[in-house]
Amino acid sequence: MDSTNNIDCIDSGTENCPCYLAATGDCLICSRLQGKEYCDCPWKGVCIYNEFIQNNKKVNNPRKDFTARIITKKKYLDDLYVITLDVGRGFALRCAIPGSYVFLQPPDREDYYHTPISVMQADTENGFITLLIKTFSAKTKAICSQEEKLLVRGVYRGGIFGLSKITGRFSRILPDSKVLIFTKGVGFAPAINFLDWAGSNTQSELIIDPDKICNQVIWDYIQPSTADKITLKSLQECLDSPLQETIINGGYTAVVALSSDYYIEEIKKIVMSLPNPPAFIHSNNANICCGEGICGACSCVDPNGTIHKRCKCL
Ligand code: FES
Repeated sequence: MDSTNNIDCIDSGTENCPCYLAATGDCLICSRLQGKEYCDCPWKGVCIYNEFIQNNKKVNNPRKDFTARIITKKKYLDDLYVITLDVGRGFALRCAIPGSYVFLQPPDREDYYHTPISVMQADTENGFITLLIKTFSAKTKAICSQEEKLLVRGVYRGGIFGLSKITGRFSRILPDSKVLIFTKGVGFAPAINFLDWAGSNTQSELIIDPDKICNQVIWDYIQPSTADKITLKSLQECLDSPLQETIINGGYTAVVALSSDYYIEEIKKIVMSLPNPPAFIHSNNANICCGEGICGACSCVDPNGTIHKRCKCL
């Protein structure tokens, strides 16, 4: 494998494949589309090279900005907002997968105001999506100052790593899953989308660290049927408690950490130290800039020297 090869790609085989990387000879999967004379890719789906050639070497279904009406905007804290947008039913349906995120931009600002935001809730009946936004700095402040509309681009898929470990047929969660979810701050938003996807047949427990958000937003978006057990507790307190025992006694098939990299690493260490570790799934906290695998802002280098574009990783 050369230094720009990903093992897999979140967009492969979707309506957004082949992408811009195919057009520039940088496909993360296809050796032919990396300029090699032979095929040695691990991809088991429809041949990406064939799709690209048959489609006259065009990027398939490039994601484009569109204008979405703001249905509601609620200010929970001076720096915490929930915005619901009318994006149409097809778009909302594609947002109903955990790890979905979109780029938002105020209509009157330059392109560099594009900001990736996780989908908290997808209302597929009405064609609405709801987003929890913390105003950290200029881009998020500009988004939350809008009253009528926002530009939206998406849907992007890679907001949660490791989901494939618990995904079965028809992109549904594996039957008999039992999930323990940790969230901190705006990590609460993808947890809601995750729980909606997992459905009421999945046993789920949620530990929410309300730091940086507020209790009101939690109770507004947690439905009584959303999770079997909800605990509000700081993640530091969780780490200071006998977490190994909690996970073993709970019989979880997956532990999900939607938090900062520090807590992801700490929780991961505990999970991996268990005799039969459950699947470990976590938020993708990379610095995502384009979301398309083209700018390199999200890149990291693994111990083998392989570069991974984290916006495209599974
Ligand atoms: S965000 Fe641009 S390559 Fe990943």
